[in-house]
Amino acid sequence: MKIIQASNYEEMSKAAYKSLHQFMQMNQHPVLGLATGSTPEGLYRLMIDACKKGEVSFASTETFNLDEYAGLSKDDKNSYRYYMNHKLFDHIDIRPERAHILDGEAADLELECREYDQKIMEVGGIGLQLLGIGLNGHIGFNEPGTSFDAATHISELAETTRKANSRFFNSLDEVPTKAMSMGISKIMESREILLLVSGEGKAEALHTLLTGEITENFPASILKNHPNVTIIADQAAIGGKKFPDQVG
Ligand code: PGA
Repeated sequence: MKIIQASNYEEMSKAAYKSLHQFMQMNQHPVLGLATGSTPEGLYRLMIDACKKGEVSFASTETFNLDEYAGLSKDDKNSYRYYMNHKLFDHIDIRPERAHILDGEAADLELECREYDQKIMEVGGIGLQLLGIGLNGHIGFNEPGTSFDAATHISELAETTRKANSRFFNSLDEVPTKAMSMGISKIMESREILLLVSGEGKAEALHTLLTGEITENFPASILKNHPNVTIIADQAAIGGKKFPDQVG
C-alpha cells in the first residue's frame, strides 16, 4: 500500500481528486466505486467544480456505491442515495441510470445484492474504488468478523458504527440496525483502490491498519493483499507518527 501524507483535509481531498482525474483520463468508460460519509465530501466538491468548469466529464462514467441502509427510502435524508444525489450526482453530468446504489427498500434484499454484483460484473468490474475506514476498521458496511470471501450481502451494523453514524440522525434509535454492503471480495476485485483517512478520530484505525496483522476482525487489513492501494491520510489521522511511504 502506497501512503500519501496530506497536510490537512483540503489537501487530502485535492490529492484524491488528482488520482481520480488521472484515472478518468486513462479510461474511456470509467467505472468508479463510491463511498459516503464525511470523508469523501471534499473530493465530491472538487469533482463538481471540475465538471462545472468543463475540466472533466462523467457522461460515460458508471458508478457503484459501497453500501446502503436497509429500510430507508431513497428520499430519506439519511439514505445514501439521498446523500449521493445531493452531494454529487445532481451536480455533475453523470447519467442517472449509470449511478448505481443498492436499493434499501427492495422487496428482496438478498436478490438486490446478487443483482448488484451481476451489474458490476456486466460492466467489467470496478476500475477505481474509493474507500473510507470505520473506527473499527470496517470498509463499506463490512463489519469486523465479515468473511473476506463475502460477496455483496446484508450486514448487521456494529454498535460502534451505529453510534458513529447517529450524528446524522435525531437519535441512536433511528439508526438502522441493518444495511447492505458490497462484499470484501468485490472490493478486492477493483483494479485500483483509494482509501481516504481524515481526522484524529481515525488515527487509531490508521495505525492498526498500517501496523497490525491481516485479520477478518479488522476488515480493512485485507487491503494489504491488494496490489494497487493508495492511502491518502491527513496529518490529524497520522497523529505525528512516522509511517513509511509503502506498507505491505
Ligand atoms: P466517515 O465514515 O467518512 O463519515 O468517517 C467512514 C466509514 O465509516 O466508513
